[in-house]
This record gives sequence, C-alpha cells and structure tokens, in this order.
Amino acid sequence: MKTPLIQLDHLNAEVRLPDGDHLTTVNDVSASFERGTSTAIVGKSGSGKTSLASIIGLLNTDYTGTLSYDGRDCGAWNDANRSRFRCRHVGFVFQNYSLIPHLNAWENVGLPLQYRGGVPMRTVRRRACRMLHAVGLADRADSMPSRLSGGEQQRVAIARALVADPDLLICDEPTGALDTETGDMVAAMLFRQVREQGVTLILVTHDPQLAARCEHQLTIDRGHLS
Ligand SMILES: Nc1ncnc2c1ncn2[C@@H]1O[C@H](COP(=O)(O)OP(=O)(O)OP(=O)(O)O)[C@@H](O)[C@H]1O
Ligand SMILES: [Mg+2]
Repeated sequence: MKTPLIQLDHLNAEVRLPDGDHLTTVNDVSASFERGTSTAIVGKSGSGKTSLASIIGLLNTDYTGTLSYDGRDCGAWNDANRSRFRCRHVGFVFQNYSLIPHLNAWENVGLPLQYRGGVPMRTVRRRACRMLHAVGLADRADSMPSRLSGGEQQRVAIARALVADPDLLICDEPTGALDTETGDMVAAMLFRQVREQGVTLILVTHDPQLAARCEHQLTIDRGHLS
C-alpha cells in the first residue's frame, strides 16, 4: 500500500484556560491524507478545526500522538527542520489571514519565496504580482493590509499560500470573507491545483457546497474527527 502524504495517529491536544483548567481541542484524531486528494474538514464553531489544522501545518507542536509526513514522524523534527519543510512543501491560509502589517500586498505574497532563499527580488515581485493578478488583485499590489478589505486580505493570504507551488495546501475557511462569485473563483483555483499540480488539499470550511466538492469529507465534533 502507498504511504499517505500525511498520517495522524491518536493525536491529542489541549489548551490551558485562564482558570487553570484544561480544554481538549483535538481528541484522539487518527486519519490519513493521500497525495493529490482533496479533503474537507467541517464542524461547528469551536469544534477544533483550526487547532487540528495548525498541528497538521506544523505550526503547533504541543500535541501527543503521531503526525507523519511521508512516513516520517514529525515529532522528531526540530524548529529548523519544521521551518524548512513548511517553506518547501506547505501553503497555509490562516483563518485570520495573518498578513504582516508593515509589508504591502506583493511583499506579503512573496514571503514564502524569500524564506526559501536564493530567489532574486525581481523574481519574487514578478511571481507575487502574477499570483495577485490570479486572485483579482492586480491593482492592489502596493497596498498595505490596513488599506484592504477583509475579502481582499483573504485573497492576499491565498496568493501567499500558492505562490511557492506547495505540495500541500491547508486552507482554514479560505472563502469565509468572500462574496459568492469571488469565493467560486478562489475555490476553482484551489481545486485546479489538486487536478493539475497533484496538490493535496485540506479545506476547513463551514460551506456545505464547498465541502461537497472535495473528494473526502471529514467531520470534527468536540475535537474528534470522523
Ligand atoms: N489559545 C487558546 N486558549 C483557550 N482556548 C482556546 C485556545 N485556542 C482554542 N481554544 C478553544 O478550543 C476550541 C477549539 O478552537 P478552534 O479555534 O480550533 O475551533 P474552530 O473549529 O476552528 O472554530 P471556528 O469555526 O469558530 O473557527 C474552542 O472552544 C476554543 O475556544
Ligand atoms: Mg477556526
């Protein structure tokens, strides 16, 4: 049997609340994600979608259980290993966009290319502007995030996740701030990545129609995925 791109075995995570209690955010999650597939993760607000996505995206290492990429246990990786892996392989669209406030739109989009190193600045700019054009923001390349609407910021975040041709795209509510037409355009871009580039897509969404377009649908309830 082929090794899945991502394997989760009995993942658990919790956060400590201000009163000292612990809240389980990820509860005994086991799942696998094959290369070149699309999977929707749906669930109520507060059910643990972002918590799980941030563990899969190597942004949070505070968990027990096993997360493996390509059969390799990520629990053994140090910060440098994780950063290197992320910048080579993972595009992440944050639910809150997480744009860098003092960088303009194209500079934000170009960050993954800069992190990768060895890409001349004019190439970074050209590729970033091309991605901004693809998400309908060609004329906002020089705008600072504070001058952009929520939906425009969200599209900058999507362009940033796609610019460095990731193998894995983790999108946390990528169309939450978009009107139907723009959301459809963005969704089409994401699914095209899966179809044409063999990208593995994990899509966190509240939108049942968007979830239905994914090959697989998983539901998370009180941190447990089924
Ligand atoms: N840093 C934190 N401190 C305290 N509680 C947290 C923290 N992070 C998450 N939680 C809690 O963990 C639970 C899961 O949160 P999470 O953000 O993963 O949910 P979600 O499914 O992404 O919700 P939404 O659909 O609203 O984005 C929620 O009850 C949330 O309040
Ligand atoms: Mg969330």
